[in-house]
Amino acid sequence: PAPLRLGLAGLGTVGIGVVKIVQRHADLLAARAGRPVVITAVSARDRAKARDADLSGYAWETDPVALAERDDVDVFIEVMGGSEGPAKLATEAAIAAGKDVVTANKALLAHHGQALAEAAEAAGRVIRFEAAVAGGIPVIKALTEGLAANQMRRVMGVMNGTCNYILTRMANAGLPYETVFEEARQLGYLEADPNLDVGGIDAGHKLSLLAAIAFGTRVSFDAVELEGIGNVSIDDIRMADDMGYHIKLLGVAQMTGRGLEQRMTPCLVPAESPLGQLQGGTNMVVLEGDAVGQIVLRGPGAGEGPTASAVMGDVMDIARGVRTATFGRPATSLVAAIPAKSATP
Ligand code: NAP
Ligand code: HSE
Repeated sequence: PAPLRLGLAGLGTVGIGVVKIVQRHADLLAARAGRPVVITAVSARDRAKARDADLSGYAWETDPVALAERDDVDVFIEVMGGSEGPAKLATEAAIAAGKDVVTANKALLAHHGQALAEAAEAAGRVIRFEAAVAGGIPVIKALTEGLAANQMRRVMGVMNGTCNYILTRMANAGLPYETVFEEARQLGYLEADPNLDVGGIDAGHKLSLLAAIAFGTRVSFDAVELEGIGNVSIDDIRMADDMGYHIKLLGVAQMTGRGLEQRMTPCLVPAESPLGQLQGGTNMVVLEGDAVGQIVLRGPGAGEGPTASAVMGDVMDIARGVRTATFGRPATSLVAAIPAKSATP
């Protein structure tokens, strides 16, 4: 059978993780997909940069749009990042050139997911983004496939590992926010723009994507009630602890009689609950459906291996002919969300 040919745009943490899986598991991927899965071409800004993988067998494109348009690419993998610029242009170019797309880019989809999904559907292509939400946890597959027969009641969770690291480290070591923030920076946990993490924006992007899938609404990131963790003090954490609670940056999306409520804010959660117990950079997503009840998914929300695992899970679906719509139903059927201002602080 013909191989599935991948064009990989981005050779940073996630991109190199993808290269390693494709190389390490060539036989396993071919056996499970029923056809070889190979990288044909790659792209990044700096060709001379030393990278932790052998890229010598791949064609090189400095321009990701050129990569997206190559004849020897069937699936365009976008792991560059950014909601505008090259990531958006190259994704649009890939769809226009008749390629399927796999991306880890929550910012791109939170801002342009509707337009991209409509373009993909019109072109008979798919966009998949498992890695964009909660890293290695297959939460999108759970929602779009395993729970496809449920009316979803609520989706909630801790979806930014950096914030969870900061909050748990403050609690465990009794250290102030500023000290732990600096520690996180030294450890390389923070995004290039740290406000994406600590301002709750990254987690808000993820929540808005899950809400669209769960409730059949157009992605409405602008309607997410956002508050980051920058104002959480060590005194807040101690007082919460005295009352038997931990403070988490918790996302909640639910359809209420007043419309779609989406909030990503620091919350008190019972210390002994699964969310309260969540330590370090781990993510947890809680899905509540009318038939299934409550499901709790827990796992690594970031990092080379976990994120590349999710990217390659999407690639494997495409290799096997799975054509699930971007948000689990036709993009043109998604309705505009009526935002409900949360009543809960
Ligand atoms: P990264 O380490 O910063 O790597 C970004 C890569 O994109 C680099 O190889 C960079 O090239 C390349 N790039 C940037 N701008 C480019 C351009 N204009 N043209 C060509 N290449 C360009 O980023 P990352 O951590 O792998 O994240 C990639 C994506 O995955 C982002 O959307 C991120 O939000 C998402 N994600 C990341 C994680 C994680 O754990 N890291 C988890 C979930 C989702 P150079 O190497 O030459 O600079
Ligand atoms: N900055 C993100 C986090 C990376 O800390 O969870 C994964 O999306």
